[in-house]
Amino acid sequence: MKFFKVITYGCQMNLHESEKLAGILSSKGYFPTEDNEQADIIVFNTCCIRENAEQHALGNLGALKYLKKKKPSLIIAMGGCMTQQPGVMEKIKESYPFVDIIFGTHNLDFFGDYLDERLAKKKRVFKVFETDGKIYEGTKVLRTSYPNAWVNIMQGCNNFCTYCIVPYVRGRERSRQPEFIFSEVQKLVLMGYKEITLLGQNVNSYGKDLEGDINFAKLITMLKEVRGNFRLRFMTNHPKDLTEDLVKAVADNPHCAHLIHLPVQAGSDRILKLMNRRYTSQDYINKVELIRKYMPDCAITTDIMVGFPTETEEDFCDTLNLVKKVGFSSAFTFVYSRRKGTVADKMDDQVPEDVKKDRIMRLVDLCNEQTREYSSNYLGKTITVLCEDFDKKKQMYMGRDEYGRMGYFECENNAIGEFCKIKVTSANGISLFGELVDDENQQ
Ligand code: 5AD
Ligand code: SF4
Repeated sequence: MKFFKVITYGCQMNLHESEKLAGILSSKGYFPTEDNEQADIIVFNTCCIRENAEQHALGNLGALKYLKKKKPSLIIAMGGCMTQQPGVMEKIKESYPFVDIIFGTHNLDFFGDYLDERLAKKKRVFKVFETDGKIYEGTKVLRTSYPNAWVNIMQGCNNFCTYCIVPYVRGRERSRQPEFIFSEVQKLVLMGYKEITLLGQNVNSYGKDLEGDINFAKLITMLKEVRGNFRLRFMTNHPKDLTEDLVKAVADNPHCAHLIHLPVQAGSDRILKLMNRRYTSQDYINKVELIRKYMPDCAITTDIMVGFPTETEEDFCDTLNLVKKVGFSSAFTFVYSRRKGTVADKMDDQVPEDVKKDRIMRLVDLCNEQTREYSSNYLGKTITVLCEDFDKKKQMYMGRDEYGRMGYFECENNAIGEFCKIKVTSANGISLFGELVDDENQQ
């Protein structure tokens, strides 16, 4: 038997692409393993959105040198966003001579061919292309997160936020044909998947590059016709492109979870402008109000960054004030990280590390306070969670409600993949704890 291991860094998009790599490898007869020593092939699926993700990947890659010495037949491959940056392929080629295959984000679907080439010719294979690539349909996916499944609806990004490397390493927006998306979602639901998340860097601009009368709101309306009991989610949204039509379509589609991830990044209009986000803090609040007009219960989550070049204490306080005003159900917080080739990297007045550290701590404190407050509203309520796993440490099943809150509960039977009703008895930060209730006893 031959084994593979795919190591993923970064976001859901990368996790899903790792499922494609796993699909390609399993169709070549390899079986998954978590054990480096057992693996015959190890693939690094990298991310370069922040410096720490990059350092992490390089550290782990370096640590494999000894393994390759011990087992020369081991194939080590590296793909993902990192390899698409100028000069990175050459650097890896020279500094990590034990890496057998380097490939990019645009040609991941051809990884199987590169592996064949490496095995046949006994020569290292380097395939990173600058092209935006096409969308390839039909690559086998080995899904790893039942009952949840990701469905890519588009690739790339056209926005060029000045801090962000994504448009450089993933190219321009390319949308999948809506019929392919519809049939993938329907198939997954028939296979028993209960939560489908549509993925794209900016799903709100889905379809702009396609012919015909299609956009993201229309796609959501189309997916109303998918038969079965499942939840539909999507990410990520861009506030400038989130339309009233979309909000209405979400509110009108009973499959859609009432949760919208709407990255705000900053609360200062001056910083938002420098970031090229193309909205003001008031525009953002208007979008939040629009969502709440059609779905008063809708949870809103966000991404926020501190320490963008030139950010002053006053700018940062604008961010804190916006967070207070909106009341996010949860937030991902980031320290700005310089990315080579981006506009922000060339800006003067980079914020000192100690100032960034102080701001991120204050922001995290505020977000945690909001998260706790949001969770405390759940006490005594009965919620429906989709059970997705068993937590071995807690010895409890775990699952999210439609608003994304994780609830833990005990159950005698295997509950994974089931919608379960639990009565919330306690809340600890972002986690809820509850007791399973019979349907007859529902509140
Ligand atoms: N530094 C820090 N955070 C970043 N993000 C994107 N680029 C950077 C960067 N250079 C964050 C943004 C984005 C999330 C996915 O990652 O908040 O929404
Ligand atoms: Fe990066 Fe902005 Fe595109 Fe998101 S919308 S991927 S932050 S450039």
